[in-house]
Amino acid sequence: MKIASDFHNISDGQNDGHNGGIDPDQPLVPVHFDGQDYMLPEGANLAASLLAAGVRVFRKTPVSASPRGPFCMMGVCYDCLVEIDGMVQQACQTFVKAGMIITMPARPTDVPSLNAQEPSE
Ligand code: FES
Repeated sequence: MKIASDFHNISDGQNDGHNGGIDPDQPLVPVHFDGQDYMLPEGANLAASLLAAGVRVFRKTPVSASPRGPFCMMGVCYDCLVEIDGMVQQACQTFVKAGMIITMPARPTDVPSLNAQEPSE
């Protein structure tokens, strides 16, 4: 189990649990990501917490399977997409909750290619 431990509050030292700030005294809760258990600070920003715990790859691109991780941290680039309890969401726009089951979003390999369509008769 990995524990996010390199947290430092860079704001005013206050954390109401909803601003994504990281408080070293915040209780750690169990989260499961891509086959690994983590202890992350409850209420902290999920992307920042996973990065602090050492996670660098959050998803892979659909076509080439290139690894992607958080880039903008403000909801613009979508490189932080993860699947949480069955829903694809931006990790940088999500707060840590106890018991989250997080995976990399499934690649759309089941979607038939337009090039694979049979010509109509
Ligand atoms: S890191 Fe860019 S949208 Fe989340």
